[in-house]
Amino acid sequence: MSEKFFLASDHGAFEAKSQIKVYLESNYRELEIVDLGAYSEESCNYAEFAMTLAIEVRSSKGRGILLCGSGIGASIAANRFKGVRAALCRTAEEAELSRLHNDSNVLTLGGRITPFKVMKEMIDIWFKTEFEGGRHIDRISSFDELGAE
Ligand code: RB5
Repeated sequence: MSEKFFLASDHGAFEAKSQIKVYLESNYRELEIVDLGAYSEESCNYAEFAMTLAIEVRSSKGRGILLCGSGIGASIAANRFKGVRAALCRTAEEAELSRLHNDSNVLTLGGRITPFKVMKEMIDIWFKTEFEGGRHIDRISSFDELGAE
């Protein structure tokens, strides 16, 4: 069975999400790409799409790519969900580090900020890079305790 891979954005990154979807479908054929919307450029709330993706990632222990115009709001919203490690990245180096050190399970991108060419480089390195484990395990495990009252 192929891995479900989740994709979501608001209107501000609808175009970038559409380009990424085509890129994933042609270059990562082993994945089943699940597009959770938005499905048009009609104005909407990025938090709803971040929440939908975060719930899918958390319940399937899967992975995804999440976008909004800047990537900022979507990453803040997605990171409210325990077990979701959404990394807002602007460069391939950051995407790589987010896998190596943070075991990011959601790559977050700014549709209005990052050129598609750079997004493709980031996506490729993000998929290729394994979590380093070791000293990083305790660090990322401690996230779930943060903010608990
Ligand atoms: C939408 O206009 C914009 O605010 C949103 O895409 C995002 O950049 C929020 O962080």
